[in-house]
Amino acid sequence: MRCRAPRGTRDLLPAEVLEHERLERAARDLLRTAGYREIRAPLFEETALFVRSIGESTDVVEKEMFTVEREGASYTFRPEGTAGVVRAYLEANLPKERPLQKFFYVGPMFRYEKPQKGRERQFDQIGIEALGSLDPLLDAEAIHLAASFFERVGLPGVEVRINSMGDGADRDAYRGRLREYFGARLGDLCETCRARFERNVFRLLDCKNERCRSIAAGAPSTLDSLSTENRRHFEAVRRGLEAVGRKAAVDPQVVRGLDYYTRTVFEVHLPSLGARSALCGGGRYDHLIEELGGPPLGAVGFAIGVTPTLLAIREQGLAPPPAPGEVDLFVAIAGEETREAAFALADRVRRSGVSADLDHEEKSLKGQLRLANRLGARFLLVLGPEEIGRGRGRLKDLSKGEETEVDLGDGAGIASRIRGTGPPPS
Ligand code: HAM
Repeated sequence: MRCRAPRGTRDLLPAEVLEHERLERAARDLLRTAGYREIRAPLFEETALFVRSIGESTDVVEKEMFTVEREGASYTFRPEGTAGVVRAYLEANLPKERPLQKFFYVGPMFRYEKPQKGRERQFDQIGIEALGSLDPLLDAEAIHLAASFFERVGLPGVEVRINSMGDGADRDAYRGRLREYFGARLGDLCETCRARFERNVFRLLDCKNERCRSIAAGAPSTLDSLSTENRRHFEAVRRGLEAVGRKAAVDPQVVRGLDYYTRTVFEVHLPSLGARSALCGGGRYDHLIEELGGPPLGAVGFAIGVTPTLLAIREQGLAPPPAPGEVDLFVAIAGEETREAAFALADRVRRSGVSADLDHEEKSLKGQLRLANRLGARFLLVLGPEEIGRGRGRLKDLSKGEETEVDLGDGAGIASRIRGTGPPPS
């Protein structure tokens, strides 16, 4: 029997893993400079956590959850990272220790979506959550970090779009205005929107149906209903962005598809990608910590889609940076009797943190040299009986063609010679 990867999932073969690693490294370096620390929550949680956080009448909860029932309990593979991070923060009693805590995470999320370009059923996100504060400068920080990430990975031309969803009384007023607007157009809306009209009219703003989208485009803007306090918050976010020189366009169409958002919401888009141009989404969620049983503390965060980002990098014609050579040193075996000696030499070099490999298929010397080439080896050392006898060999730098005599017993010496000539870290 021959099996295939499930629909909407993809194998990351080693070359693609390197691309993911590069993005992850860029994110880790960037986020650490702003005090975010990595957190790793489980890949699945109790279903109720997501229903409670993301909202019952969202696409994610209604249609896209991977749920498993076991012994009367219901678990769901995480469709996003925010809910789990808040749960972990509360479970470890962190608000007591120090309310403001900044986390980042990297890892797979699961949504039973219709697979299409850039949309998968298992996909990686890089996200941050700053929990425990209402400071608008944290909103600005999140937006600035998201945009800086795309600059760091060499993706120019991204657009930051921000909006405010309001909170409390102004959100209620806005709900009323939306009900009036959509109520007059119910007959033109899709079935899902009609069903959601009563339960959660906000979700009509992010329906993916073409016709509903054009109706939603004419809906009243949240910004016209903002209270003085929430307007002030929004202005403070904008001033924060200005202070760090980050451009962000105010766009009332940014409404997000998850229920927990309050006040600031934002997305980072690459307009050339068309309808599916969102590479990152996020915002403030000032009631979620309390909803999940914690103290009334504000929070803000975002998540970047790794797959859409990599697609964007490719579609922009930006070649990914050359992958580093897969192996630093190839030890070629010139004579069967030197096989174990080559194995031991590779081991001595590896112990000093330099990668080394050798033939395991009894290839001819010529075949081994071809293999070294295919592996992207930077250095070559041919080991024959003569070299073993002398205890010395010739280390060849394959890019320059230069050779140096080395002591075969001195793995650390060989490794440092190789390291000293290495490319700058990418
Ligand atoms: P989201 O907008 O649902 O937000 O997802 C964030 C990003 O993940 C999207 O902009 C997109 O790039 C990527 N993404 C979403 N679904 C898929 C998919 N099926 N395949 C590939 N990529 C996908 C959240 O998840 C929130 N938790 C973000 C957040 C954190 N808000 C506050 N804190």
